[in-house]
Amino acid sequence: MTKEILESEVYNEMESVQNPNIVYPDYYLNPFHAYDEGNLSWLAAAEAEPATMSITRRAIPDAASLDEAIEVVRGNWLRVIEQHHLEYSGNSVVADILDIGCSVGWSTRFLANKFPSANITGLDLSPYFLAVAQYKEKNGSSSGKCIKWVHANGEDTGLPAKSFDIVSIAYVLHECPAIATVNLVKEAFRLLRPGGTIAITDNSPKSKKLQELSPVLFTLMKSTEPFLDEYYLLDLESALREAGFINVQTILTDPRHRTVTATVPH
Ligand SMILES: C[S@@+](CC[C@H](N)C(=O)[O-])C[C@H]1O[C@@H](n2cnc3c(N)ncnc32)[C@H](O)[C@@H]1O
Repeated sequence: MTKEILESEVYNEMESVQNPNIVYPDYYLNPFHAYDEGNLSWLAAAEAEPATMSITRRAIPDAASLDEAIEVVRGNWLRVIEQHHLEYSGNSVVADILDIGCSVGWSTRFLANKFPSANITGLDLSPYFLAVAQYKEKNGSSSGKCIKWVHANGEDTGLPAKSFDIVSIAYVLHECPAIATVNLVKEAFRLLRPGGTIAITDNSPKSKKLQELSPVLFTLMKSTEPFLDEYYLLDLESALREAGFINVQTILTDPRHRTVTATVPH
């Protein structure tokens, strides 16, 4: 998969997705996931989807296939979002969805398939990832609505206030310092309409599977994901309430991951 991307025409997408005025936060400019340029490289972008697939497969070791693992990990996540929005939004309309930290667009495509009538925006700090996302969308068989790709910092997107019904932040926060997480949550609150739903999915600090990882493996992971400690120590539910969210709910959606959902009050 990596070779296919690196040998494709993906490079042509860069100019149209890149925001030349972007200011990267300091934490984003350090080596990350064992790439010297962190997420700002073609290799990281080309390896992102296979890496996500292997993480999904590892999360559900008993699954008979990758598809079965995806159905558990992504299926449960999507069902929790749908259920929360139905229960608390007041009107259950889903016209606009924002996927913050969309990477190469995997989570964005799942959201697009689950909510086919919604307008979907994928936003990320890496123009390399967005270039892959846009390239894959152009060359895929998807017949749904076009996804809008935005190169911006999710902490301060510049998008209009109250313009989304659902804001998703999937597998982003364990890669961010706590201060960025607090800013991402505040920005999501600003972007959501009254009754709108934020959905955060990521490693669960209460997961037995993760707690039982060997200290050696955990230390190795921390060497490529330097903010894991900050992520596990932050009380995410309190951060959501402090930002103004209500109906804060946390569900272990698979043995390793939690999905935290909350509502913007009417
Ligand atoms: C593990 S990937 C997310 C994967 C994707 N959402 C999924 O579910 O498959 C984390 C992403 O967060 C992005 N990211 C990190 N900090 C960000 C920020 N402040 N604003 C926007 N994107 C950010 C990274 O560039 C990376 O693409």
